[in-house]
Amino acid sequence: ERSLQRADAFLQRSLVTEAVSAEDEAARKLDPGVNGRKSLRSLQQERREQAERSVLVSCGSTTERKFLKFLSRHGDVSKCFFYESYGVYAVVEFSGRDGVASLLEAASIPSASHEATLPFKSRLLSFRTLGAGGPAAPAGLKLQPQTAVPINELIQRLSRQDSIDQQVSSLVEAYQLTEENIRLRFLVCSLLKDVAAAYFPECSVKPFGSSVNGFGKLGCDLDMFLDLDGLSGLDVKPPKSGPSLEFQMKRASSERAVTQSVLSVVGECVDQFAPGCVGVQKILNARCPLVRFAHQPSGFQCDLTANNRVAMKSTELLYLFGELDPRVRALVFTVRCWARAHGVTSSIPGAWISNFSLTVMVLFFLQRRSPALLPTLDRLRELAGPADRSVLDGSDCSFTSDFGRIGPGTNTETAEQLLVAFFDFYSSFPFSRASISIRKGREQSKPEVAPLHIQNPFETSLNVSKNVNASQLDRFVALCQESSWLLQQRETVTPGGGNAPAPWGLAALLQPSQVAGIKTRKRRRTEPASQRIKSLLESLKNQNHQKKS
Ligand code: CTP
Ligand code: MG
Repeated sequence: ERSLQRADAFLQRSLVTEAVSAEDEAARKLDPGVNGRKSLRSLQQERREQAERSVLVSCGSTTERKFLKFLSRHGDVSKCFFYESYGVYAVVEFSGRDGVASLLEAASIPSASHEATLPFKSRLLSFRTLGAGGPAAPAGLKLQPQTAVPINELIQRLSRQDSIDQQVSSLVEAYQLTEENIRLRFLVCSLLKDVAAAYFPECSVKPFGSSVNGFGKLGCDLDMFLDLDGLSGLDVKPPKSGPSLEFQMKRASSERAVTQSVLSVVGECVDQFAPGCVGVQKILNARCPLVRFAHQPSGFQCDLTANNRVAMKSTELLYLFGELDPRVRALVFTVRCWARAHGVTSSIPGAWISNFSLTVMVLFFLQRRSPALLPTLDRLRELAGPADRSVLDGSDCSFTSDFGRIGPGTNTETAEQLLVAFFDFYSSFPFSRASISIRKGREQSKPEVAPLHIQNPFETSLNVSKNVNASQLDRFVALCQESSWLLQQRETVTPGGGNAPAPWGLAALLQPSQVAGIKTRKRRRTEPASQRIKSLLESLKNQNHQKKS
C-alpha cells in the first residue's frame, strides 16, 4: 500500500516538475545571460551524481503505475522516463543510492538451462511480469524520442515557418539533445564506469565531445573519457619529511603505452562481460587509442578513450562559446545540418570535413565579424583566473570559465544575416595560403601544405582537418557559393503558404536537388575532376572555333 502511495505521489510530482521546468525554460529564454549558465565541470558533476543513482530497465509489458509501484518498494523515485530501442526501456533515478542498492539486492540471476551466464551484475536490468497476463504491448507508456526527425520531415517543418530566423530556431529545437537523452548518455557512462571499476575502482568515465559541448544532435555518437587521474602519478606532491609509504607499481615506456594497456583490458572486459555492449573493436594504434562499440539498450555508438585530457578541454571551450550567445549554437546546428544534407560531412571517417572542424570554422567566422560576436581564445586566456590555469602535455590550455568576466558583445546581426555572411565568408576564403585559428581569431599563414588547415586550439602545431582532401574542400566552397546565392534569391527567401508549403529559405537550402550544379558525391565519383576539366576545355575549344569561323 505504501509503495502504491509513493508511486502515485511520484506521478503527481512529475506533473508538477514538468510545469516547473517549463517555467524555468521560459525564464531562461527571457534572460539567457544570467540563468542556467553553469560551468561545464559543475554541470558534469551534477549529472554524474544523478547517473550513479540510476538504473536502466528493459520493461517488457507493463503500465507506468505498475512499474513505479514495484520500484517504489525500494526507494523514492526522483525521475523516470521511457524510450524505445530494441524494446522499451526505462531510465529510473532514485533519490538516493540506497534505492539502487535495494533494487539490485532483490534482483535475481536469470536461469540459463541451455547456456551459462557470465558472472557480472550491473545496473542494466529486465522487469519481468510473469503470470501477470498484462497487455502484450506496453500500455500507454509515453515514449521519449531518442533520435532526430528525418531530414524530409525537418524540411517540411521549416517550410511552415515565417522567417529564416524562425527556421533556424526550429532546426535547433528539433535536433538538439533532449534532457532525457543527456541523462541516458550520463547513465551509459556510469554503467561503463562500473565495468572499468573491475580493474580500477577509483576511475570515472566522463562524456566529452558533442554529447556535452552543446552542439550534439540527437543520435550523435557518445565519446567517453576514462579518467584515471587519481592513480596516474601526475600532480604527485613531494613527500613531507619523515617516513612515508608509496605503492610499488609497474612501469611502461610511455604514457601512450599505459593508455594502450588500460584500454586493452577494459575493452576486453566490455567485450566479455558488459551486458548490452556489442561489436567491440579495440583501435589501440590510432593517434588517440580507443575502444569502439555499440551500446544496444541505449542505441549509442560509443568511443571510449583514456588519457586525452586535451579533448576534454576543447569540449569545455566549445561549451563556453555555445553558451556565450544563442546565435552560436543556432549557426553551428544550421551549418552542421546543411553540411550533412549535402554530404560535406559523413558518419563514416574519410577525407571529408568533420563536424568538429566545421564547428571550429563557424567559431572562427563569428570571431571575424565586425564587431566580433565571439572573443578569441587568446583573450579568454588573458581572462583566466588562477583556478583556470592548466597545462596539459606541454600545451597551455588555460581560459576563463567565468561567463561574468567575458561581458556581452555589441554585434546585433540576426541568425539570417549571419548565415548568409557565413556562406559568403567561406566562398572567398583564401584557403590556399591561410590557416584558421580560433586562438588568434585571425588568419595565420599556413605552416604546412594541406588543402584545409585548421589549427588545433590547444595543440597548436596540429591541423584538425589534416584528413580533408582538395576535392572535398572544393565541394564545400562550391556549396557555400551556391547556398549564398540561393539565400539571396527572392523566391527562396519568401515563405510559402498553404498546407504543404514549398520549401523556402533554409528548407530550400537543405534539399540536395535544389543546389544546382553541385553533383552528389556518388555522381562525382563516376566523373573525376580531370574528366570535368577535359569537357570544360573541350567546350571552350568549340566556342573558340565557332568564334573564329
Ligand atoms: N577532437 C579534437 N581534435 C580532433 C578531433 C576531435 O580535439 N581532430 C575532440 C573534440 O573535442 C571533439 C571530440 O574530440 O569534440 C570528439 O570528436 P568527434 O566525435 O569526432 O566530434 P564531436 O564534436 O563529438 O562531433 P560528432 O557529433 O560528429 O560526434
Ligand atoms: Mg562525437
